Amino acid sequence: MDARDGTVLSARSMVGRALRWMSYPREPEDFLAPFWPVAEPRELRAKVIDVRPEATGCATLVLSVGRRWRGHRAGQWVALSVELDGARRTRCFSISSPASDGAGTIELTIKARPDGAVTPTLISRAMIDKVVTLSPAQGDFVLPSPIPRRLLFVSGGSGITPIMSMLRTLDRDRALGGSTQVTVVHFARALDEVLFLDDLRALPGVSLHIETERALGRAPSLSEESLAALLPEFESYECFTCGPEPLVAAVERAFAARGQSARVHVERFTRASTVATEDTAGSVTFARSGVTARADRPLLLVAEQSGLNPPSGCGIGICGTCLCKKLSGTTRDLRTGALSSEGDTDIALCSTVAVGDVSIDL
Ligand SMILES: Cc1cc2nc3c(=O)[nH]c(=O)nc-3n(C[C@H](O)[C@H](O)[C@H](O)COP(=O)(O)OP(=O)(O)OC[C@H]3O[C@@H](n4cnc5c(N)ncnc54)[C@H](O)[C@@H]3O)c2cc1C
Ligand code: FES
Repeated sequence: MDARDGTVLSARSMVGRALRWMSYPREPEDFLAPFWPVAEPRELRAKVIDVRPEATGCATLVLSVGRRWRGHRAGQWVALSVELDGARRTRCFSISSPASDGAGTIELTIKARPDGAVTPTLISRAMIDKVVTLSPAQGDFVLPSPIPRRLLFVSGGSGITPIMSMLRTLDRDRALGGSTQVTVVHFARALDEVLFLDDLRALPGVSLHIETERALGRAPSLSEESLAALLPEFESYECFTCGPEPLVAAVERAFAARGQSARVHVERFTRASTVATEDTAGSVTFARSGVTARADRPLLLVAEQSGLNPPSGCGIGICGTCLCKKLSGTTRDLRTGALSSEGDTDIALCSTVAVGDVSIDL
């Protein structure tokens, strides 16, 4: 590509952006469709209409979603893409507002990572009026239907967001305060870091337990005994848990000890790409970039540590943003443990490790 191509491309993308901005909440393709029926919208766009401060370091993004939004079930998440410094960044967030059927507004409540490339910007008021793109709502961490008579929610930190969507949905649908027994156990560092504190306290008929590190003088922990002390017969409750990995694992252990593992429903925010792996000895060659590196971690992390910047989102193999072609070699999928030895296969870099030497089209 010569310099002139570059100028044409950036002029095109500026015109595209201007058309999208002018046509919001419709898509430019909507206006073209009667004359050019093949024009299909590619993405679902949403406009940030408010950024509402929440607990310390957190804010809720209120997004206006157009008629293409197909709605969400309480507990689901979206992959949100935003253009920052000329690069498109994708990150996943649970929806904290109640379940929806279609166009209207949805809310994402975001805790900024101090070293994060995206979240500190997302929670700033500079985002107001910006247009972002969204995936459809995804995930099976959702309220069952019919609603169980006993519900236990256990969360830590920002892990309360999908649970808040469930509680708000139950409240809106007048399912709280009646025959459904609802207990919420939430862990945080300090009370001023508890998200939705006033909303949680105002929920009718909900038994709320909040434990903070500051009040206890040590990191809160959960065990079969401590859970039983809060809620005898906890194992008879349908349990939804989301938070740091040790908390989620402790809830799973407590239910397993009572032979009720199937009652636990888990959502994980943790990125696989942050975890080092042991079973791999070899190297990865990123063929188009001409970079070869030791492959001792998930390939997304190896690529990032090698100075490459492949697009990524969830970091746990669910959003598809980091899909890349494997040209040759054997890889292991961290989610399923399955080995893949075929060339020309799409792999999710964030949740794949090399087994031996591999070559990737990046
Ligand atoms: C399904 C799903 C739903 C989520 N819902 C929410 C939500 O409702 N609210 C919310 O605040 N967050 C949520 N998250 C987590 C959120 O996506 C990450 O915090 C966010 O991607 C961080 O982006 P960043 O660009 O600021 O950080 P990055 O620049 O991408 O990362 C900064 C540093 O933090 C580490 N890091 C980033 N994310 C994680 C993580 N999840 N676990 C461990 N280490 C990490 C990176 O490895 C890096 O060292 C969700 C994640 C998933 C997968
Ligand atoms: S970043 Fe989402 S699948 Fe890899």
